[in-house]
Amino acid sequence: MNPEEILAQVAREVAVCTRCPLHHSRKKAVPGEGPASAEIMFIGEAPGFYENEQGRPFVGAAGQFLDELLQRAGLKREEVWIGNVIKCRPPGNRDPLPEELEACNEYLERQIAAINPKIIVTLGRFSMAKFLPGAKISAIHGQMRRVGNRFVIAMYHPAAALHQASLKATVIEDFTRLPQLLQQARAELMRLTLPPSPAPTPDEHEEPKQLSLF
Ligand code: URA
Repeated sequence: MNPEEILAQVAREVAVCTRCPLHHSRKKAVPGEGPASAEIMFIGEAPGFYENEQGRPFVGAAGQFLDELLQRAGLKREEVWIGNVIKCRPPGNRDPLPEELEACNEYLERQIAAINPKIIVTLGRFSMAKFLPGAKISAIHGQMRRVGNRFVIAMYHPAAALHQASLKATVIEDFTRLPQLLQQARAELMRLTLPPSPAPTPDEHEEPKQLSLF
């Protein structure tokens, strides 16, 4: 299966998933969306009210703010992948439970493997904890960290930022720096995949010959 087919297959499985009790209360599962060729994956927490209605990620108030943040970063929604660590809405938007995170984890792993993004941007603490366990968002937000063969940037969740003016300014500033970080990630990954430069030949080591004056 090619990456597009893998994403479509995961979405089909997520739509009818019964791995955890959240399937009893969901209206629509939210597998996530975006092209298999995306260089950046934005990974949030879990669907909320509107996402559960529509089966699409980040379409409520937090989603509108995320759209604005993407625009500030010079990114089009259609060129990035957007999804969540949990694919079904927890009742009343409560925090995901460990067993729900565990049940859903394999879907996200397959999505990440299919897309192989240069950067994963985590939105919120549950997503951050998956990629940067033990990290504190106040200490590392907006910074790019290498994790294996890609980079992870933890951002404040847009919903949290909507409710706290100081966080809003911070998350806007962090997103504004994304293009620069993407360039850095591209250059660094290119360097890592290039074969090491060959050892210099003996000639290249030699001192330039002295010209005889006589
Ligand atoms: N919040 C999230 O974390 N994900 C969504 O899809 C919507 C709101």
